Amino acid sequence: MNTYDDPVKQLSRLRLRAFIKKNLLNHMKPENVRVLCFPGAEVEGQEALEVKEVYLPLGILPENVVGLEEDSTRAERLRATKLGIEIVDQNDLDYFRGNSDTFHVISLDYTGQQTRERLEVPALIAGRHLLGKNGIFCTNYSGKRESRPFQTELMARRILFSPAYREEVDDPTDRSAGFSGYINLAKELEQEYRDMGIGNERLVEDIASGELRDLGWLREGITHTTLAYLTIGSLALAYHTETPERYMPQFLMQHPVAGIVRERLRQSYVQQSGDPTFKDRHRIFLKALGVARWQDLIDKPENSGENFSTAMVEEYGDYLERTKGIPRHIGTMFSLMRAEEEKRPYVIADMERYQYTSNKNFFMLMDMFAVRQPYKIYQLLDSVVEDLRNNVPFARVRNGSLSYTRNWSRLCAEYAEDRGLNHHDVPERHDLGSSWVPRDRISRTDAIDFLKANCSPAEIAECFSGFSRRQLAAMKAHVTMGTYD
Ligand SMILES: C[S@@+](CC[C@H](N)C(=O)[O-])C[C@H]1O[C@@H](n2cnc3c(N)ncnc32)[C@H](O)[C@@H]1O
Repeated sequence: MNTYDDPVKQLSRLRLRAFIKKNLLNHMKPENVRVLCFPGAEVEGQEALEVKEVYLPLGILPENVVGLEEDSTRAERLRATKLGIEIVDQNDLDYFRGNSDTFHVISLDYTGQQTRERLEVPALIAGRHLLGKNGIFCTNYSGKRESRPFQTELMARRILFSPAYREEVDDPTDRSAGFSGYINLAKELEQEYRDMGIGNERLVEDIASGELRDLGWLREGITHTTLAYLTIGSLALAYHTETPERYMPQFLMQHPVAGIVRERLRQSYVQQSGDPTFKDRHRIFLKALGVARWQDLIDKPENSGENFSTAMVEEYGDYLERTKGIPRHIGTMFSLMRAEEEKRPYVIADMERYQYTSNKNFFMLMDMFAVRQPYKIYQLLDSVVEDLRNNVPFARVRNGSLSYTRNWSRLCAEYAEDRGLNHHDVPERHDLGSSWVPRDRISRTDAIDFLKANCSPAEIAECFSGFSRRQLAAMKAHVTMGTYD
């Protein structure tokens, strides 16, 4: 039987082991590392391969490993190994919803494909900071058979969260700038079709019919979603609760022509501004940002909608200029940094991505992120706040040139250095290979002979193609009844 004792799976474990060593154990002692994973226990004798192959060889202590297992038989099997790890009989989503323990490694080796429901997991991890100060987040899921609604959702996520579609719009005063992703996608698709000599009508048709859903391309939306969630911290939960369709007007999928879309987005913006739920949605963001004190800003009509965050930042910049004489551009920058800090986003220190085909013929996608919290920046921000409180002169002219407080200068230097990786740096997905061995087809006569020789339908289906387990079980019934004799 094909199990997780699989050479290509082992290769993926070795990649995880090396990634942890490179990004975590370079500054942490293994005995302090806390891990959460799905150890697996598909068959007796092959329990917790991930723990045995990844964590124990690195010197991580078994008592610091929490193993989640939603299947009670497997959980029992894991307990019986007496490996010393903690086994929790729970589904990951329930676990993360109900626990606020932090880990240094969270590795979710799923058996099936990604779903919208499961994408709440990275939102919970990022939004509730479950990776602590430093951490590794790893996911394995199958890249196949996503449901149609999830494909649609991925389309929105691919566009909403990935860089190519978030470039600046040509016209900075365009109020639909928040939707620039859609406009850029529309432009790109239009150009592609024009290059192929096909008109816009066909493009509109293809998009409406789902013809343009390149699943490989859409699945990239999963990596970008995780990355986006990790780098927006507490805001991730609000983002997840808000369905992306709300950010991606359906009409765009049907009319992806730049001019039309731009015009429609403008209209949609006007409509949205009059939408009574619009302000409420932004309140959710505010709350998640932890900047509810600015909430009254959105009640000013001129600050409605997409302009809100800009208004918030500007308002604070204005205040600093009025009360502390701080140059406006610096006040605005400081205000942006503080708003950012309140989300406690993760900085992405490193990323690796792989794909492989398991011996069960599952096409698997593996994403690894090394993250950290920029604590030095938070400390310097606190120092600048303290300076302001004590009215330390912010800027001075020395020898004819302007210099700023020591803390502000250090903060700017640190901020410039501590950017980390972002959507533009998503690495290519490397192929680890395949351990799938295609099976020979079996004829009906041979299948019946095997059944007569007491081979089980499961064994025959495992070794040969041509008949499903159910078909073989039906044949077995006939063998037992003597129909074929
Ligand atoms: C792919 S296997 C783990 C293999 C293991 N990591 C290895 O390297 O051999 C996944 C295991 O986790 C369990 N599992 C899958 N999805 C889960 C979830 N969402 N929550 C908890 N357990 C899950 C499955 O029952 C299965 O035993």
